[in-house]
Order: sequence, then C-alpha cells, then structure tokens
Amino acid sequence: MEKIIKKRVILFPLPLQGCINPMLQLAKILYSRGFSITIIHTTFNAPKSSDHPLFTFLQIQDGLSETQTQTRDVLLQLTLLNNNCENPLRKCLAKLIKHDSSDSRTEETKVTCLIDDSGWVFTQSVADSFNLPRLVLCAYKFTFFLGHLLVPQIRRDGFLPLPDSEAEELVPMFPPLRKKDLVRIMGNKSQVEHLDSYLVKILETTKPASGIIVMSCEELDQDSLAESHKVFTFPIYPIGPSHIHDVPASSSSLFEPDQSCIPWLDKNETRSVLYVSLGSIVTMSESEFLEIACGLKNTNLAFLWVVRPGSVHGRDWIESLALGFMESLEGKGKIVKWAPQLDVLAHRATGGFLTHNGWNSTLESICEGVPMISLPFVWDQLLNARFVSDVWRIGIHLEGRIERGEIERAVRRLMVESEGEEILERIKVLQDEVRRSVKRGGSSYRSLDELVDRISSF
Ligand code: UDX
Repeated sequence: MEKIIKKRVILFPLPLQGCINPMLQLAKILYSRGFSITIIHTTFNAPKSSDHPLFTFLQIQDGLSETQTQTRDVLLQLTLLNNNCENPLRKCLAKLIKHDSSDSRTEETKVTCLIDDSGWVFTQSVADSFNLPRLVLCAYKFTFFLGHLLVPQIRRDGFLPLPDSEAEELVPMFPPLRKKDLVRIMGNKSQVEHLDSYLVKILETTKPASGIIVMSCEELDQDSLAESHKVFTFPIYPIGPSHIHDVPASSSSLFEPDQSCIPWLDKNETRSVLYVSLGSIVTMSESEFLEIACGLKNTNLAFLWVVRPGSVHGRDWIESLALGFMESLEGKGKIVKWAPQLDVLAHRATGGFLTHNGWNSTLESICEGVPMISLPFVWDQLLNARFVSDVWRIGIHLEGRIERGEIERAVRRLMVESEGEEILERIKVLQDEVRRSVKRGGSSYRSLDELVDRISSF
C-alpha cells in the first residue's frame, strides 16, 4: 500500500488575543489548502481547542505566576514569556519531529515548518537547531513593523526630548506618524532599555527567517511592502485580512462573547448604533471611563460598549458605576463584557466604531465598511489611527482627548453630520478594494498561492 505523506505546519502564537486571532485564522487557511496543523501554545491565554477540532493542540508550560499573568505591563509579560518558553518549545518540537519520522503503514505526516509571531525572539535558533524553516507572522500593519524596528536608532539619534512646537510634525522616517505619537511609542523611561533590546532582537531574529506573512494587503500597505527589500532579503507574503478568506467561521475568542448583542442590535435602525470597544489589552482610569460614558450618553444616540472586566483601574468590573448610568439611558445603550465583534461590525444597525485601532479591529472595521472614531492608546494603534484619519480619511481622530464634550462632538460628526456620510463613502471604496484582494486574481490571493507553494517546497 502506498504511503500518503501529509505536510504538517507548526504554529506558535504569542498568547495575546490580537495575535491568537490572526494565527488561528492562518491555520484555517493553510488547513483548507491541505496542510495538517499543530498549534503549540502556552498555558497562559490558551486557545480553546474544542473550537478547532481539526487541529492538534499541544500546551507548553510558560512559567508565569498568577501575578505575572495579570500585569498591565505587556512588555514585561512578553520578556518573561520569551525567557521561559525556549526549553519547553524545544522539547515539544523534538517530540513532534521524532514522532513524525516514526513508521506508520498508511499515512505519515512530515513537519515542514514553524510559523510563529514576530514577538517571539528565541524561535529562530530553536528552528535552526532542527533544520526547520521558520516563517514569521506579522500581526501589525507592515508600515508599523518596519518603522518600529527603527525606534532604537531614532532614540540614539537624539529624538528626545521633543520640543512642543514640533509635536504635530510628521516623523520623516515613519510617516504618517506624528512626532507626538512617536514619543508615546518610545515608552517611558523605565521601559527604554527593555524595549530597545527587545526591538533589536526582533530584527536580528527576523532577518534569518525564510519569509514573513503579513496580515495586510497591497491596497493598505503598498509603500512599506515596496520598501521591505531595504531591510529584508526574504519573500514577504501579504495575504490580506485573514478573517475574510473563504474558510469556515469559528471563534478564537479567549473570553465568552455576549450573544445578546445581536438581538439588541436587531431592534435598532440601520446604521444607528455606535459600537465602542478598545480591544483586549487597553485599560483606563475611572475618570476616563466616566468621561466616555457621559460623552456617549449626551449624544442621545444608541451605543453598544464593551467594557472588559479589569479594564477600569481598581475595579473588577463596573457594576456599581454602570447601574444608575444604564437606567438613565432608557434602553439606548448596552454595556457588555465581551462582544462577538465580527458579527457586531457586520450588523446593519452598526453605523460607527469608537476603537483603539488595534490592527485586527481596524481591518475588521474596514472589511465591514464601518467608519471609525480613533482613540489609540499605545504602540501600533497610534500609527493605525493616523492612517485611518489622515491617509484613508475613513474616521475621526480624538487626538487622545478623553473628555465628554470631545467625545459627544466626534460621535455626532460621524453618526449624524454630512462629514460622516463622506467618510462612509470613502470607507466603502476601501472595503471593496480590500475584499477584492483576497478573491481569486486579487493581490492577497496570489500572495497566498505563493506562500502555499513555498511551504510545499520545504
Ligand atoms: C493587540 C494590540 O493591542 C494591538 O495594538 C495590535 O495591533 C494587535 O495586538 P488588541 O488590543 O487585542 O491587540 O486589539 P485588536 O488587534 O483590535 O484585536 C482584538 C481582537 O479581539 C479583534 O479580532 C476583535 O474582533 C476581538 N474582539 C475584541 C472581540 O471578539 N470581542 C470584543 O469584545 C473585543
């Protein structure tokens, strides 16, 4: 009997919701192209294997204490994870590779490559030790990926301190980022050393990889993709927003989405509801929470607001804050702990999205043609927000002003005034272009074909 040899791809996501979603989506895409899939994951933020019965899940110990899993310092968390996970990953891969080369009469799977997040900085040397090709997944806009690698250099060149008079200027090496945004990306004094050495390691460990898979497309990232050869010699695969590829839907949510959002939206008029969500990491002070609450209420418009447990400093959740507030809204607002975001954005009643502009949320909003209000807090969110407001002009930037009057005004501009209609027209055009890119003949579709050929050649 002839033996069937199936190629197995190993995926190792960074344990953050914004990185797990694109990685599992990529897994589904590769599975649909005939590869076997194994997901290696940490105990911290472990994905729900029962949601993906066709994949093999293997857990490794990440050694994080309970306090470390709860810290708001994501850089510290990533540093600890990188320090702790090298040996467990090495052992896990060794077992897998040994098992794959053992005899089975009818079918054999061969481990072909490792795909992991750019934020893992030890994986290249692990992959090398097994002679395993490694592909890097970039879960950011590629402009940000290239730009953030320059941060240590920009710091050495004496960018700081920034005079107030230059705050609004563009950063020449990193447009359309403004200088005031870059200051926030460069981190506070206590983080500088860690951040810069982490970024240097990301660059060092990405360069020898076999390629990079980018969750973006030429339609959104043309300039930076064209620039990439100045830094990297390997192929780049911009395969488009992963969630709009034609593969069966399944959730990779770490939290339980509140499904009552959908019947609530059903009761509202088309494009009448503002969806408010700041992703899986952003936290805020109680006074910021109250400013947003009052701003939303004062619009007298309907809103659906995700407030994650633990996202308001010093509170488990906001029961006591929300009680009187919700009553005063008379049904016009709904607050949930976690939403089925893709379904909410696709719902006809959703007319705007007040977002932190995480890359996944930004892509999801574009793909559903939902205009945005940008309230970025950290990291790539600051750059994504500039693209949304200044380049594509598909949203309004709050410029960090978490103040009730500013929020009310921005919501009205987007949801009621003619400016909102113009923004809607522009985002619809971009939505079509991006969606077309993943269809047969589109740029992302072609890139995915090339990626599949490449993995098959390993
Ligand atoms: C993180 C970083 O913060 C972000 O800047 C980076 O671009 C990616 O990694 P996160 O803050 O979680 O991500 O934001 P985002 O990228 O938008 O990802 C959040 C994901 O969670 C989205 O896919 C969104 O659909 C999902 N989500 C969010 C839900 O399913 N329900 C919710 O209620 C909120």
